[in-house]
Amino acid sequence: MTRLRRWGCPDTGRLEKRQQRCASLAAALAGMLAALLALACPPAAAQDPRIDPDHALPVLSDTPRPPASDDERGLRAGTMAARLAACTGCHGALGGGSADGYFPRIAGKPAEYLYNQLTGFRDGLRPYRAMEVLLAHQSDAYLREMAQWFSAQAPAYLAPRSTAAPSQALMVARELVLRGDASRGLPACVACHGAALTGVLPASPGLIGLPHDYIAAQFGAWRTGTRRALAPDCMADIAAKLRPDEVAAVSAWLSSQRMAGAPPPEPAPEGKLPMACGSQPGPHAGAGGQP
Ligand code: HEC
Ligand code: HEC
Repeated sequence: MTRLRRWGCPDTGRLEKRQQRCASLAAALAGMLAALLALACPPAAAQDPRIDPDHALPVLSDTPRPPASDDERGLRAGTMAARLAACTGCHGALGGGSADGYFPRIAGKPAEYLYNQLTGFRDGLRPYRAMEVLLAHQSDAYLREMAQWFSAQAPAYLAPRSTAAPSQALMVARELVLRGDASRGLPACVACHGAALTGVLPASPGLIGLPHDYIAAQFGAWRTGTRRALAPDCMADIAAKLRPDEVAAVSAWLSSQRMAGAPPPEPAPEGKLPMACGSQPGPHAGAGGQP
């Protein structure tokens, strides 16, 4: 069952819910097979974009934007949209998230963040079977193209889930997210994830649109060392400082927030981050200012 839980089938909850989840597991497996087939077709465009009229990658830019044409959105053979359609079987249309209760939204996240995750799955920094199998033999260049494509999508956010968490817990979570806890060296989450939690360039992800179970699982993975980023791994340090009840509260609060429109990540900060994060390239790595 532990294995199933990692596929989005938690062993808690009513039987009916479990059956629904396991139906989504079957859909996920089918999606993965289709994804493997689609990805196996060599991306001609990646070899030489100039000679492939079907090469429909959006112009590379830091600002996510909706697809420009029906061709980009459509499934014309050979386009990135067609090749990545199977990813969206799990991650939702254009990567916008799924009602499944586990698969994360990936649309509009900074390309550098997505690229770090894709290479992390491929290279064993972030073990997760479905993603490892899909990405095992993909080149850095193709992973970068995937990251740029999903980063440039801006589908509307799904409606947030309601939460049964007590209001006291939600207040604790809100305080941590907006203000942190200086007495424990915990900076506010918004200091690195953006005032509206839409993410910050170059490589800090937005936190809205992620399911409760996914967020809680990431904190578990940082604590057990199964999700790692380049050192210094600021999220592993933060996860180690949060109590389990705080992780539950923050997961409930974040997953129940609504996002209007699909705003892009904030530009890179002028100064340093409040803690050093090795995954942030260049001067934004941060050098441990005051939380
Ligand atoms: C079988 C379902 C499935 C398919 C198909 C799939 N993914 Fe995933 N993906 C997941 C799950 C589940 C996670 C979360 C894993 C975890 O808990 O760490 C994930 C995580 C990710 C992440 C990290 C998200 C984040 O916010 O950190 C990225 C990026 C990603 N997938 C991209 C892709 C791409 C690109 C494809 C197609 C090549 C793809 N996925 C296909 C299920 C899938
Ligand atoms: C010092 C900067 C910093 C602070 C403060 C911070 N984060 Fe992060 N967070 C990051 C970075 C950088 C990443 C990307 C790590 C990676 O590349 O794997 C990240 C990733 C995440 C992710 C993974 C998102 C996904 O799609 O998988 C979650 C969830 C998260 N942070 C939650 C939080 C919460 C909740 C707080 C506050 C309690 C917080 N973070 C505070 C820098 C920070």
